[in-house]
Formats: sequence, C-alpha cells, structure tokens
Amino acid sequence: MSKISQPHLLGIKNITTKDIELIFETAANFKEIINRPIKKVPSLRDVTIANIFFENSTRTRLSFELAEKRLSADTINFTASNSSVKKGETLLDTVNNVLAMKVDMVVMRHASVGAPHFLSKHIKANIVNAGDGTHEHPTQALLDTFSIHEKLGTLSGKKVAIIGDILHSRVALSNIFALQKLGAKVMVCGPPTLLPKYIASLNVTVEYDVKKALEWCDVANVLRIQLERQQIKYFPSLREYSLYYGINKKLLDSLKKEIVLMHPGPINRGVELTSDAADSHHSIILDQVENGVAVRMAVLYLLAGAAG
Ligand code: CP
Repeated sequence: MSKISQPHLLGIKNITTKDIELIFETAANFKEIINRPIKKVPSLRDVTIANIFFENSTRTRLSFELAEKRLSADTINFTASNSSVKKGETLLDTVNNVLAMKVDMVVMRHASVGAPHFLSKHIKANIVNAGDGTHEHPTQALLDTFSIHEKLGTLSGKKVAIIGDILHSRVALSNIFALQKLGAKVMVCGPPTLLPKYIASLNVTVEYDVKKALEWCDVANVLRIQLERQQIKYFPSLREYSLYYGINKKLLDSLKKEIVLMHPGPINRGVELTSDAADSHHSIILDQVENGVAVRMAVLYLLAGAAG
C-alpha cells in the first residue's frame, strides 16, 4: 500500500499535494466499491476506531461511522454531552481511558483550536481531526476538492469563491490550503466584519460584493453564518445579511454562465442560501455528502497504512 506522509490528519496545511492526490485516487476506488451491491471490504478488519465528538455533528460523525463500517473496522462512539466530561474529566484522561480499551485510531471533533494537535503529542493512536474550533476541518476540504475535481475534471486554474462567515469557519481555512495546493485560484467574499484580518496574507483575493464574486468564479462554496460562535453582533440582522450576501436562484440565473454551487452543511435556508438555489441544478451539495464517505474511507485506510 502507498503511504500518506503523516501518521495523523490534523490539517491540510501540513500535508503534501502528493498526499491529497493519493487520497483522491484511493477515494475514487472506494467510491466505485461502495456503489456495488456488496459495499463492504475487509481492509480495516481488527482495527478499532473511536469517534470522539465534543461538538455537535450530523454529516461528519455519520460519514466517519459509515466509512469505518464499510472498511470492516470496529467502532465506538463518544459524545461529550452524555459522558463523564460533564463530571469534570479532562480531554487527556478521557482519551487515555478510551485508548486503554485497545483503540488504534481516534477521530475527534473539539471546540478548541489545536485540541487534536495536543493529543497527537501525548497518545500513540492515529488521530483524524474532524474539526477543531475555528481552525481546520481537513476531511471537509478533501471531500469538497474531490467533488470539484469530479465535477470539473481538474482544480488547476479553476476559480473558487468561498462566500460567507469566513471568520468563524474551519472549512474556509482547510479549503484555502487544499485548493491552493491543487492549483486553484481562491477568492473570499463576505461582509468586512466576517473576514479575518490575516486573510489577505494567505494569497487569496478579497471581495465584498457577492454578485462580483459569483461573476468571477467557476465554483461558489457558500458557508453558514455560525451564530453559535458569535459573541457580538457582526451584522445588523439575518434579514439584512440575506439581502446583501444571500444567494438565490434569481441571482444565479442572472449570471451569464453556469457555476457550481457548494455548501458544507448544515444550511441556514433563507439566510446564506434560499431553497431554490440550494436545490437547483447548480448545486452539488448532496454529492459532497456522498463523496464524504469515500474520502473518509481513503483517509482512514491510508493512515492505518502509515502506522504499520
Ligand atoms: N459539514 C459538517 O462538518 O457538518 P456537521 O457539523 O453536521 O458534521
């Protein structure tokens, strides 16, 4: 088996373009397999994986769990809200107790930036970052770029606009790193208050006008307004945000070209996207979800190889 260059997937920043290409190649093979009547392969038989989620999730948690089952791994699931974390147990104690049960890999989502990086220095298992605070969400970026590659045949030279709440997004940062490693041009667009000050240093174009961003791009990846992370008001009201930055079918139809519309989910329907845009022929949102299983199978399979 070809191996990924790292024992963990903590972020996109520190993996190589060759790693991403290997993940895509492996994911394409797994996608073909999971569309067969018999969807399961024995690749991770006798490997035990713990899915440890300290934050809510629908897509990422279910998708990892399904990927693990398709690979014949044994899985255990932990959600902080009904665990002994509520009695004061620390992150390290929690994970060490899970590992004492002979777990080989940990998939972890945590609200704190750097939590999986911290763990990787203290435990022996392979770690996959399933989202750390507002920092990175590497498997989301891999499934997003895999989906663009599948739709357009290449990332090289393609123009991708990431639109919305960039400030609170872990998807934005991982996408910027992945898109640039694969040769795409990246624009970020949103109200000035939702674009972090450091963003221009990442070699991206900054745009405040959503119509101009849509006219520029081949692909629009629209991000959710993350109200749960906003301690202060960044814009007057959701109605006003929707008026200036919301994307609807009328706006998409007014462009003199076809663009690909993406969203990592969950969608705030009627805020960043109206239903007639989210469910239109432009949208590949459910393809992203489908590809998430194959991409996560590839990541787990290749990391298990890296450990051996
Ligand atoms: N895209 C994403 O991370 O969705 P969940 O929060 O539902 O996992």
